[in-house]
Amino acid sequence: MARLLLGVSGGIAAYKALEVVRLATKAGHAVRVVQTPTAQRFVGAASFAALTGAPVLVDEFERDPARGAFPDQAAPTHDPASHLELVRNADAYLIAPASANTIAKLAHGLADNLLTSAALAASCPVLVAPAMNHHMWEHPATRANLSLLAERGVTVIDPTTGALATKHEWGTGRLADVADLVAAFEAVVPAGARPWDGLRVLVTAGGTREPIDAVRYVGNRSSGRMGFAVAEEAAALGAEVTVVAANVSLPRRAGGAISYVDVETAAQLGDACREAFARCDVLVMSAAVADFRPAAAHEGKLKKTERDDMVLTLEKTEDVLTGLAAGRRPDQTLVGFAAEHGAGALEYGRDKLARKGLDAVVVNDVSQPGIGFDATDNEVTIVTVAGDEPVPRGTKAEVARAILATVDRLRAGAAAR
Ligand code: CTP
Repeated sequence: MARLLLGVSGGIAAYKALEVVRLATKAGHAVRVVQTPTAQRFVGAASFAALTGAPVLVDEFERDPARGAFPDQAAPTHDPASHLELVRNADAYLIAPASANTIAKLAHGLADNLLTSAALAASCPVLVAPAMNHHMWEHPATRANLSLLAERGVTVIDPTTGALATKHEWGTGRLADVADLVAAFEAVVPAGARPWDGLRVLVTAGGTREPIDAVRYVGNRSSGRMGFAVAEEAAALGAEVTVVAANVSLPRRAGGAISYVDVETAAQLGDACREAFARCDVLVMSAAVADFRPAAAHEGKLKKTERDDMVLTLEKTEDVLTGLAAGRRPDQTLVGFAAEHGAGALEYGRDKLARKGLDAVVVNDVSQPGIGFDATDNEVTIVTVAGDEPVPRGTKAEVARAILATVDRLRAGAAAR
């Protein structure tokens, strides 16, 4: 999985760029699209936005709602310049179709729109896939411009020969096969380019709901924000991520790097985790799993007319994490969470680390205002055998990055032993 920035310039072949996005996202890549104003006369931004799951930009002065982030990344807290941030995040920049006019601008360093300014700012590999009428393709100016680009290290993906868009015209100028464009992109971003490429991460998120009857449940206030942030940050590092989501209604990342398994109850969460655990290298158990459930869920809806009061008998659920840890491999890294209330939070965290056989426990004191359940921010202490690491208050994405940095350290330590 890699990040593809796709620049679409004006020409009838712009419609084929939709297929490039479809194939690339199907292959698990995260894609952002920038278009020239002329390209928008051929294909509208809405189609690209729907396929990428991200905003499409045309103008350098247009505010990017995703702030330069790709679909697998969390947006930064500041507003960066789009032409710089998009190419900074991209693993490669493919311009397809590249019209004769755009090629001329690229060759001579013009930066008069977002597509061309991004190309000038790109330090990642740049690929250009020309598509135009054969007379334009054969013109000495186009030939010279493409030679100049190739000399500078730009990969030129030659057009193919065949019937052209204009009636009865035949020649060279058809955009290269879409699958070849995706393959050319993959060839310049070899697997293993990102630090967590090849690592499999299992994350649980949200809160379980244990049915009382057909419409009511015993639940908790966990929104799934922390777990989703961990999943998104792990995917951004290149990991293949599975999220077991317990009743999470947050937006999900398109692009295929994260797969979501929806569950409702602790028992379902346990089953889904056991199914995925053996394949994972890292488990981050951030879901708030019910410790008790109604001993017998009533079929249908309980009616208040039948009673003046009601006693619910609860029974213990299984401790999913303890069960998984009991069957762990030494090369797996296990992170638990402990949402504690008030004094003694760290002590409880240390106790869970030892009792559940974990590598780290992320402790947060949910008695503090502005953090924890359903908040966008968090402030935690990561407890490991090496000691306690306080993580200052920040967005859940920032806290997720700190947790993953600890996982990195733990894995490096385990590998060195
Ligand atoms: N957990 C779990 N299965 C449960 C309960 C909790 O897997 N039935 C996991 C949580 O996902 C979390 C960790 O265990 O990562 C700690 O959860 P917590 O509820 O704080 O721990 P408990 O051992 O249940 O302790 P407490 O008495 O504080 O509830």
